[in-house]
Amino acid sequence: MKQYLTHPIFKCISEIITEKNWEAYVIGGFVRDLFLQRPSKDIDIVVIGSGIELAELTAKKLGNLKLTVFKNFGTAMIRYRDWEIEFVGARKESYQRHSRKPIVENGTLEDDQNRRDFTINALALSLHRDNYGELLDPFEGVTSLEQKIIRTPLDPLVTFSDDPLRMLRAIRFATQLGFKIEETTFDGIIQNKDRIHIVSKERIVDELNKMVMAPRPSIGFKLLEKTGLLEIIIPEMQALKGVDRVKGRAHKDNFYHTLEVLDRIAPNTENLWLRWATVFHDIAKPVTKRYDPKVGWTFHAHNFVGEKMVPKIFKRLKLPLNEKMKYVQKLVSLHMRPIVLSEDIVTDSAVRRLLFEAGDDIDDLMTLCEADITSKNPEKVTRYMRNFKVVRRKLKEIEEKDRIRNFQPPVSGEIIMETFDLKPCKIIGDLKSAIKEAILEGEIQNQFDDAYQYMLQQAEKLGLKPVKNLSNNKPA
Ligand code: CTP
Repeated sequence: MKQYLTHPIFKCISEIITEKNWEAYVIGGFVRDLFLQRPSKDIDIVVIGSGIELAELTAKKLGNLKLTVFKNFGTAMIRYRDWEIEFVGARKESYQRHSRKPIVENGTLEDDQNRRDFTINALALSLHRDNYGELLDPFEGVTSLEQKIIRTPLDPLVTFSDDPLRMLRAIRFATQLGFKIEETTFDGIIQNKDRIHIVSKERIVDELNKMVMAPRPSIGFKLLEKTGLLEIIIPEMQALKGVDRVKGRAHKDNFYHTLEVLDRIAPNTENLWLRWATVFHDIAKPVTKRYDPKVGWTFHAHNFVGEKMVPKIFKRLKLPLNEKMKYVQKLVSLHMRPIVLSEDIVTDSAVRRLLFEAGDDIDDLMTLCEADITSKNPEKVTRYMRNFKVVRRKLKEIEEKDRIRNFQPPVSGEIIMETFDLKPCKIIGDLKSAIKEAILEGEIQNQFDDAYQYMLQQAEKLGLKPVKNLSNNKPA
């Protein structure tokens, strides 16, 4: 493996430890990713001795780099160009880098490898000049990589009780790498699933985000479901699973439908929030489900109910409660609109209204809606896709003509007040919304002159007389 350890940082560490006659190794994710040929910018160095001391010497040798020391954990970190290098002393006890509990009992390399999460993450490469690049692989991690399996080095019950987050890490790695979780490890997750309660929400959501960003996120959600973790972490998603049948009429399984949509959208977006919006687009289907003897299964207003469920789920998962959440809510709430539109004659005013409500998120909304067509009936799919093309074309035309996307009322409240010598009152709001409606309906153009004249006409109906003519006060 020597030829792969060409980074100047490795040479530098090698010189230091060889001179001192210490042992140090590159370990963990970096080595795994080297074998998998995945790019990696995080390097973990384990030293038999003091991680902090080696970090200090390395930082100095590389040109007095800034060093961040976490004394409690016995670790230290250096940033070198865009690389992040973490130094840790080998430990006998569990490798709990995110735990607040300080664990600093020194150990051998083997002790350290024993307490890591998976065989593929326990590979180590020596940095000492005498055996530079030598692979130390006591748990056949390379075989696991070749066989594409996730397996714990020790009894899974030990590894998972050391840090229950590892259950989610197993699922996340399986999803990102397309690996299988080996049977005993999988059973270990099932047995330990309730221990996930003791893990912080921040760590859980970090893993979920990585899983959602994988090329095929469905793998992860299916594993979460099978192990019983989904029920604990996102019970609303668990509730999507299953099919009800009345008089032989069934609806589709909304869990698998959601996952299909998610996999379909994945190649088209690296936007984490569009992917979360996809996860939650049908989240209210279970609570809005009714059986109507005339039309069969209905999910009335599931988009609006879903929009309201999002904040509760975000809060529980400690996802951000800011504009990202609002974006997810908006897409959940609007996800039926393009499809309804495309089922009918696509009128300009309907397209204008959609543009007005979706604003800059219109393209993401269309991407979600196109992925949402998972019907097995090819004719239906072709028809919808054709109609969506019409919707997209119309959106473009109307956007170019009317600039509705980020609608600003062309006549301001100040102009209305000055024209009629009014103090702030309800009439001003009414006139502004009348103008907005006329623009959305296509009765007038989205521009000042049309809007000003229209405002005068509407005001006259209300018995208002202008005291000033501001028709030349077009905003710059
Ligand atoms: N590790 C562990 N148990 C954990 C977290 C980490 O044993 N709960 C060990 C593993 O050996 C892992 C290494 O610490 O490879 C580095 O952890 P981290 O940087 O979190 O993950 P990576 O494996 O590098 O993968 P990624 O960067 O994709 O998160």
